[in-house]
Amino acid sequence: MTEQTLFIVKPDGVERKLVGEIISRFEEKGFNILKLKMFTFTKQMAEEFYSVHQSKPFFGELVSFITSGRVVAAIIEGDNAIAATRLMVGLTKSFEAAPGTIRGDFGLGISDNIIHASDSKESFEKEVAVVFK
Ligand code: CMP
Repeated sequence: MTEQTLFIVKPDGVERKLVGEIISRFEEKGFNILKLKMFTFTKQMAEEFYSVHQSKPFFGELVSFITSGRVVAAIIEGDNAIAATRLMVGLTKSFEAAPGTIRGDFGLGISDNIIHASDSKESFEKEVAVVFK
């Protein structure tokens, strides 16, 4: 089933010059890139983007980190894009993410976990509306 999803290379991934490597992985996997955008989240955008986490103790840290520098957002398309992308990204806590995944290969952090990817069609639609409006 052809699907679209969104990923965002977070400020740590941009700072560490991992944008090319990350985009390459998705191209090599077979996805088509439909949209790409480099920008910096405002506080308002970040609070909206991450609103499902509003009540979590780490919400403040999450907003502070994602607004701390430039990010690169991509909309990609391919078979089972949402699930396949989540597998390529790896577990949220990078120190738990398997080798071979993006988080598993490039980091150890939690807030600074290099990349975000939509976890469902509903999240994808909501996130796209914030990032590509
Ligand atoms: P992301 O996939 O962007 O979705 C929510 C983010 O919250 C997650 O990646 C982490 O970067 C961040 N986060 C910060 N602290 C925690 C925590 N304790 N547990 C889970 N996620 C956290």
